Amino acid sequence: KEPLLTYRTKSEDLKNIQDLARIIKQASHILVVSGAGISVSCGIPDFRSAGGIYERIQKTFSLFDPQEIFDLNVFKESPELFYSFAKEIIPRESTEPSLSHRFIRDLECHQKLLRNYAQNIDGLESIAGIDRVVYCHGSFSAAHCLRCNAHYSLDDIRPDIVTGRVPYCSFCGNRVNWDTNIHESSNNPSSEYKSCIDNNSSTDGEDEDRITPNIIKPDIVFFGEALSDQFFDCFESDRETADLLLVIGTSLQVAPVSKIPFCISAEIPQVLINLEPVGPSDWFDLELIGPCDVIIERLYQLLGWQHGMNHVGCFK
Ligand code: APR
Repeated sequence: KEPLLTYRTKSEDLKNIQDLARIIKQASHILVVSGAGISVSCGIPDFRSAGGIYERIQKTFSLFDPQEIFDLNVFKESPELFYSFAKEIIPRESTEPSLSHRFIRDLECHQKLLRNYAQNIDGLESIAGIDRVVYCHGSFSAAHCLRCNAHYSLDDIRPDIVTGRVPYCSFCGNRVNWDTNIHESSNNPSSEYKSCIDNNSSTDGEDEDRITPNIIKPDIVFFGEALSDQFFDCFESDRETADLLLVIGTSLQVAPVSKIPFCISAEIPQVLINLEPVGPSDWFDLELIGPCDVIIERLYQLLGWQHGMNHVGCFK
């Protein structure tokens, strides 16, 4: 019996982790859905477990629902709520990917990764070198002004984030004269500044412009925002191509990512690797319940793969 693992299985040829290793060896189009659980061993709390981000938010703010901190309408009304907490969740340069991130990269190195649908916003997939990743909920790598869409990098707004200040757009925010709604002269209009005027030149945009605050918002997907076209375009083809689904470290609470297991062909084996059972009971062909890094460490042994632990490139 494998240590630390409990199983739930419903299919004859996928009864245990040994069967999973055999199927991984045969697979060439593995679809991986990953969540906050794969970054917990990197020191980043997940959202919904005890001691997780939502519990911390609840202890700090008296919100009806801690998810409000990631709600777009709440953000527009009270951006200081999100920015008083954002320093807890922005990626830190020193954080290393987990064994789970590197396993996904090693699937890619072995030409077995169809796509990694990642829900996390910590960017560790890119640090691990995973190319075929879709950041379903965006990332902190860039940010944009809500009003004029001027582009900013994380480093542009990091000083505000670490001090809990709300970053405002410097291209359109302090140049709009509300009475005349024209842009005051500027000694060096940059291309963004010009595009900002273009954005606001249309008359019907003026009312809209009054209520669109010139706040800079990180490119993470807030509740109330649509996911990228990239997500839908990739999944449209992947759902037909996948030959194995691995769901790792997620509670499957947030659509549309949580719908992925139910939108792919029933013939495709589906495996959950998670600290707790999630989704409809007996949905997955195999559930490996335990810490994902421990389970994946065992998979490495059964696959006879070396760890991609100390390099990002694929070993030759
Ligand atoms: N190994 C395996 N699973 C783990 C581990 C671990 N070391 N640690 C935690 N887990 C599991 C938890 O038991 C839980 O089922 O990972 C899951 C994490 O669930 P959530 O905290 O809900 O995170 P996630 O599923 O990624 O949330 C989805 O919700 O708030 C939004 O946009 C946010 O992307 C996030 C989305």
